[in-house]
Amino acid sequence: MNILVLGSGGREHAIAWALAKSPRCSELFVAPGNGGTSSFATNVSGVNAESGEEVLAFAQDHKVELVVIGPEAPLVAGVADVLRKAGIAVFGPSAEGAQLEGSKDFSKRFMARNNIPTAAYATFDDANAACAYVEEQGAPIVVKADGLAAGKGVVVAETVGEALAAVRNCFDGGFGAAGARVVIEECMQGPECSMLSFVSNGVSHPMAPAQDHKRAYDGDLGPNTGGMGVYSPVPIAIAEELESMQAIMQRAAEATKAEFELDYRGCLYGGFMLTAQGPKIVEFNARFGDPETQVVLPRLESDLVEVMLAVAEGRPEDIKLAWSDKWAVSVVLASAGYPGSYEKGKLITGIDAAEALDGVKVFHAGTKLNEAGELVTSGGRVLNVVALADTFEEARNQAYAAVDLIDFEGKQYRRDIAAKALRGRSAWA
Ligand code: AMP
Ligand code: GLY
Repeated sequence: MNILVLGSGGREHAIAWALAKSPRCSELFVAPGNGGTSSFATNVSGVNAESGEEVLAFAQDHKVELVVIGPEAPLVAGVADVLRKAGIAVFGPSAEGAQLEGSKDFSKRFMARNNIPTAAYATFDDANAACAYVEEQGAPIVVKADGLAAGKGVVVAETVGEALAAVRNCFDGGFGAAGARVVIEECMQGPECSMLSFVSNGVSHPMAPAQDHKRAYDGDLGPNTGGMGVYSPVPIAIAEELESMQAIMQRAAEATKAEFELDYRGCLYGGFMLTAQGPKIVEFNARFGDPETQVVLPRLESDLVEVMLAVAEGRPEDIKLAWSDKWAVSVVLASAGYPGSYEKGKLITGIDAAEALDGVKVFHAGTKLNEAGELVTSGGRVLNVVALADTFEEARNQAYAAVDLIDFEGKQYRRDIAAKALRGRSAWA
């Protein structure tokens, strides 16, 4: 069957790569795709991925039978609703379901109604009331713009002053309409762990857990980023915690079925914090995680087309997930200056040599082919260098050996991905 993937990042390269392995995949389109997807799929330009009508027209013209929506913006814009109404199987929730990510307040109310453990919170539409609440609660405290802010709308404030500044920034339009409403949360403590799950017809089929590294610099210092590295599985999460996370994801899946008009059919991302009181949700996302997908899907041994079709068609009973017991570690190579401003168009070398190493796969995030057909940087996060191996240490060493072989001007990366986890849970104490 012909399949269309929407998106352009490392997540979409990994999804497209896993779909392409299936004998059921004939033509594979990625809109817009990147320099990595163009080597094995057809990149599609000129289709606005946030317009349901444009995506539908392309799908109908190219006999696409399954559309996989990578990023949150098309989901929140209702692209899945338009496609489903037209009878096209789509992996990704409706606009209503995507509000679990699109509005922090919607998500917190969903959790409260369904007894899903999460940080205590209050929501404000007005700066004075929000500031009074911050003064009353004290620091540390977390301030979040309600709407989508490209991962930048959250401030974990160590002081009351910092929290008040964050509140004012939101209400002063720092995040546009996304900040017109502000959610203020209790600051939770503990390691974070992501559990992505295939959700369809009220059933959750959780994937292998993964742990992201959100800060820009070694030692978890510096600004928050989209994610600088990741690994899977997560040895610091004990069996009891993993069971509790799975139960929470199942409870959430049941609630999507009971509450939403259109069945939630897609990936539900549970961002957890492993607190002293047990795992609690930091956030839900309505899509695959980036960069989590780049270590989770290489460990999936099942046919992703079969799995995604079962999700899209509301047949969770047909989902069978088999996982490799290999360890996966991924290091993100970013442009100098990321997550601030950065230059583009830098020539990238060494990917072939890196991929010649045992167990190494490079997923592209911000790359493209220039007019001369050369691979150049085109984004903040440029590449995800992934290594799979029999032990955690080997996977980490191999990922860094591959990183050394790749070059572009201004290449920036963290040297401590997975290092803390190798030291064990006490490293978080
Ligand atoms: P989010 O965009 O909601 O994932 O938040 C970004 C990051 O902020 C999370 O990955 C956490 O590291 C941190 N964070 C968000 N909410 C909280 C919270 N209530 N307590 C502690 N840290 C938080
Ligand atoms: N890795 C964090 C996210 O995808 O939101």
